[in-house]
Amino acid sequence: MLIPISAEWRRMKRLNKYLAESGVGSRRECDRLIAGGSVKINGKVALLGAMVHDNDHVTVNDKRVGDRQKLCYVLLHKPKGYVTTVKDDLGRKTVMDLIHLNARIYPVGRLDYDTEGLLILTNDGDLANRLTHPRNEINKTYIARISGILTESERSLLERGVLVDGVKTAPARVRIIEQDRHRTRCEVTIHEGRNHQVKRMFEAVGKEVEFLKRVAIGDLRLGGLKRGDYRFLTDIEVEYLKTL
Ligand code: URA
Repeated sequence: MLIPISAEWRRMKRLNKYLAESGVGSRRECDRLIAGGSVKINGKVALLGAMVHDNDHVTVNDKRVGDRQKLCYVLLHKPKGYVTTVKDDLGRKTVMDLIHLNARIYPVGRLDYDTEGLLILTNDGDLANRLTHPRNEINKTYIARISGILTESERSLLERGVLVDGVKTAPARVRIIEQDRHRTRCEVTIHEGRNHQVKRMFEAVGKEVEFLKRVAIGDLRLGGLKRGDYRFLTDIEVEYLKTL
C-alpha cells in the first residue's frame, strides 16, 4: 500500500545531510558535531538522527548554517497602490502583501506607488545588484500615458536627454504609440534608474504622466500576467538576466 507523504515531510531532511549540504563538513564530521552538542535546532541542542525542516533555524557553535536559502526568482505584476518595499513605515500595502511564499525574497529596484508593471523579487543578492547597478545600463521599458500632445521636437529632446535635477538624462528611446488631442501613449526605454525618472523626464518637457507601467526589463517581458499575479522565472529567464 502506498502511504501518502505530506509536502511538509518532503521538506524535512536528516540533520547530518542538511549540515553537510550547507558546507559544514562530511556527514560523519557533522554527526560528531551533533553528538558533541554543538548543533542546535531552533535554539535546542539537537540529537543524532534529528530531522530538520527548510524553515528551521540551525546553528553550529551558535553560528547559523543552512542559511544558504534556495534561490528564488519571482516576476510580479505590481498594481498601483502598493509600495515597493518589504515594510512600509506609513503602514501602506507593500508588494510583499501580494506574495505568499516561504522564501525571504525582496524587490529588485523600485516602482513608484502609482506605477504598475513588471517587478522582480528575489533572494539572489548578486543578481539584484547586477540588475540595479547603473554601470550595467540595463534597459527598462515603460508604457506612459501623458496629458496632451507630445510634439516631435519634445519626443526627440527626450531621446537626446533632458535636465533632471541639473543633470542630463542618458539617451533614451521614445516611440509614440497613439495620440489624440487630449493624450499621448508612448513606449519609453531608459537604462538609468533615477527616482521618478520617467515622470521627471516628461515634466522637463512640460508634460504630466497620467499612467505608467513597466513592461520589460531587457527582453524579459511582463506578458499577459494579470495585475497582482506573480510567477516564478524560468531557469532560462534567470540565466538571461545574469547575462545583462
Ligand atoms: N520612472 C518613474 O517615474 N516611476 C517609476 O516607477 C519608474 C520609472
